[in-house]
Amino acid sequence: MAWAEPGAAAPNPFFTAHARAYATSARHAAGRDLARLVAQVGAGPGLTAVDVATGTGHTALALAAAGCRVIGIDPTPAMLAEAAALARERGLQDRVEFRPGWAEALPLPDRSARIVTCRRAAHHFTDVPRAVREMCRVLAPGGRLGISDMAPEPGLGDELDALERLRDPTHACAWDEDRWRAAVEGAGLRCLAVEVSVEELSLEEWLAPASPDGAEARAVRARLGALAPPLLAALCGGDPTRWRKRRMVLAAERPA
Ligand SMILES: C[S@@+](CC[C@H](N)C(=O)[O-])C[C@H]1O[C@@H](n2cnc3c(N)ncnc32)[C@H](O)[C@@H]1O
Repeated sequence: MAWAEPGAAAPNPFFTAHARAYATSARHAAGRDLARLVAQVGAGPGLTAVDVATGTGHTALALAAAGCRVIGIDPTPAMLAEAAALARERGLQDRVEFRPGWAEALPLPDRSARIVTCRRAAHHFTDVPRAVREMCRVLAPGGRLGISDMAPEPGLGDELDALERLRDPTHACAWDEDRWRAAVEGAGLRCLAVEVSVEELSLEEWLAPASPDGAEARAVRARLGALAPPLLAALCGGDPTRWRKRRMVLAAERPA
């Protein structure tokens, strides 16, 4: 379950506790999905962009570095404070602004952005269809939406969600690429590209920012130890000390 209904001012304990770790995480600050997302939405000088669930701002700052004027939205004050500090560190504070808000009720006017992005966050949302409608609402005609998120192998969503919730209690539900494509097309956008990639991680890398020795890690190891071989093969390559992180990057356009 996500931690609060959109609109409620309720600092999230998980992201509040781990805000510094997200800000300094090399795996969040970079990653193939970030480069692909920025390229797929056509980021460039002077374009207005909104980064939804911006966290500590890695995507917003990548868009700003490409020349966009960016508004980053997130409900967790500790994450936004880290994002603002990173923007100052990189000298991008004049191109990016961070505001509190929820994906399901974006505090922005209709058709106000050429680019809307949402990276590694939608699996936390209480109501993804509503968030998709909101992202489409703020997109200008001809503008592009870019989504990057973990994506389960078809048919493995329930097991992935159960494991993710053990390490991160704010995980709600991860969608596969077919569900994302249907949602954005159902909201009136034209799908331009869907890319799926797999990153091979150690279990410890996947568990981060949860401690590799904590109660969350013990619960994950116990569940992995009881998995049937085909599931273990799909999620860990057959080795419970490893993790196969499957990700999707989707780009779509609002018809002009
Ligand atoms: C992993 S972080 C985001 C990472 C960031 N997008 C990046 O590229 O580095 C997930 C963020 O989702 C935010 N979040 C969770 N539920 C949300 C919701 N319903 N609306 C907006 N943001 C949400 C959390 O506050 C957290 O900062």
